[in-house]
Amino acid sequence: MCGIVGYAGPRRVIPVVLEGLKRLEYRGYDSAGVVYLQDGKLIKYRCQGKLSNLEAIIDEAIMAPSHIGLGHTRWATHGAPTTENAHPHSDCTGDLVVVHNGIIENYHSLREELRAKGHRFTSETDTEVLAHLIEENLDGDLVAAIRKTLDLVEGSYAIGVLWAGMPDTLVAARNQSPLVLGIDENGQGSFMASDIPALLPFTKQVIFLEDREFALLTAGDCSVYSLLSGEKIEKKVTTIEWNAAMAEKAGFKHFMLKEIFEQPQAITNTISGRINPESGEVDIPEIGITDEDVRYIERIFLVACGTSWHAALVAKYWIEKYAGIPVEVDIASEFRYRRLIVNDRVLTVSISQSGETADTLAGIRLAKKLGSKVVTICNVVGSTMTREAHGTVYTHAGPEIGVASTKAFTAQLAALFLFTLFLGQRKGVISPEKSRELGQALIGIAEVIKEKLPVIQTQIQQLIESFYSCRDFLFIGRGLNFPIALEGALKLKEISYIHAEGYAAGELKHGPIALIDKEMPILALVPQDAVYQKVISNVEEIKARQGRLILIGTEGDQHLKTITDDIIYLPAVHEDMNPILYTIPAQLLAYAIATRRGCDVDQPRNLAKCVTVE
Ligand code: F6R
Repeated sequence: MCGIVGYAGPRRVIPVVLEGLKRLEYRGYDSAGVVYLQDGKLIKYRCQGKLSNLEAIIDEAIMAPSHIGLGHTRWATHGAPTTENAHPHSDCTGDLVVVHNGIIENYHSLREELRAKGHRFTSETDTEVLAHLIEENLDGDLVAAIRKTLDLVEGSYAIGVLWAGMPDTLVAARNQSPLVLGIDENGQGSFMASDIPALLPFTKQVIFLEDREFALLTAGDCSVYSLLSGEKIEKKVTTIEWNAAMAEKAGFKHFMLKEIFEQPQAITNTISGRINPESGEVDIPEIGITDEDVRYIERIFLVACGTSWHAALVAKYWIEKYAGIPVEVDIASEFRYRRLIVNDRVLTVSISQSGETADTLAGIRLAKKLGSKVVTICNVVGSTMTREAHGTVYTHAGPEIGVASTKAFTAQLAALFLFTLFLGQRKGVISPEKSRELGQALIGIAEVIKEKLPVIQTQIQQLIESFYSCRDFLFIGRGLNFPIALEGALKLKEISYIHAEGYAAGELKHGPIALIDKEMPILALVPQDAVYQKVISNVEEIKARQGRLILIGTEGDQHLKTITDDIIYLPAVHEDMNPILYTIPAQLLAYAIATRRGCDVDQPRNLAKCVTVE
């Protein structure tokens, strides 16, 4: 998704803006631009492609003695990823520029009105309309013009505005698109960014802008106001625990690989302090629901997108099994547009790494409006979902930079298992013995993964030589591992561009089995669990049709060797922990195949880390 960085302060602006934009590269983008003010003039550079292309054309500007400016990385929505469509966008005079994330839904009619008034447009974007509309409304008072403009637009925006007529001030504003402000308490200036990692090299003191708020940023001040009333709002300053080093590769070739290897720590960080190692008793103080709420709940909706949705699918099995509460799992973009039977006896849980995904956010807003309590399982402190939900269960995975989610997913699973125990224990439906057993299983899984990770990586590396050039791939699993088959397929398709599908193993014979021939690779998850025999039968059906099987199963399972030579063995763990453990080879397989094919695994084509538009 698009990235915004803005700075006003004593440092040279371009290095600050570029450093910030680099920290946002992981979000995905296809063009970039910067603007700074020097000698009363706005100087703008834009180009298609990566930031390195931009750096190549700004050369001397890097050292420009300017102390205020904006930068943007664009992920195309309206108009192709060309230089003309790259941000910043200017008004007719060239004295005012805007960078924007989000979508202005009524841009078409606004543009026609502005054209009729003589405004000339040079791009196909919705953003350019903002620059011209502010110009149209500008009568010496920039703040008044911006407030009037934003009152006329429909849709979502996080914007940064710089006007030569107000040379010391950047204006930031948001509605339904994230924007965070940074303040350097050592007098090193004020910052704005669409995501926290952009600020980490400069400050950890941040202010989260809420919907319909705007901020005026100068070298020495960062004040926030209501867009509706114009009144000043006292904001809380939050200290971010992440540091800049956490968002670096630390010797790994890719962020994705580093994050795969960080999973044991991410899981441990997510559960530590929340579970009693002896009794398995769970306490999540920030969860925002009382024991009485838990007993009152009749149904749970789990709402999420993509990989986070797969975590929700696993959690359905756990919650129904151990807390005895019926669970519905919804893809957020579907949830928000169907007739919801939601009331105060429904608990809605959003699952999101970023806490900013537009559809998931819209889903919880809707559920809240219908009377549901809302809990969010989220990785980013202070993100919009955490601010809007009644309670939060943070996954302490640290910043996830690779576009393909890895450590956030397994941390979500750990948090959801904690959540399951919390519900079951508060409802009084899990016995103390079961609590102890499940708690210890959860606590132990990080160590198992830590020990096995390098071994699995080596085995996968050997195995992929005969699979990396295939065109299609199927993944199958059953029960708790069916969502892991979906996740394995998603990982592979998003970073290697191989067409891959995940199926519930038992579903195969209802259609997909027609795809099986001697060319088709099928990865089957076959731990020795309650449905082991059933999956083995499905695997035999594939073998009978000459499918090329890769099996991931339990150490010591000799039967697997009668089926194929391509086997990854994993230790026997508590059956409920299999989804966490079996995710690891699926991630490593996708990583190994994608790198073997020469793909850019950290920034796959067309993808964005955080989808803040519908
Ligand atoms: C896939 C991936 C996406 C995200 C999805 C939701 O690897 O990362 O499918 O899981 O866009 O994002 P969050 O969790 O931030 O709401």
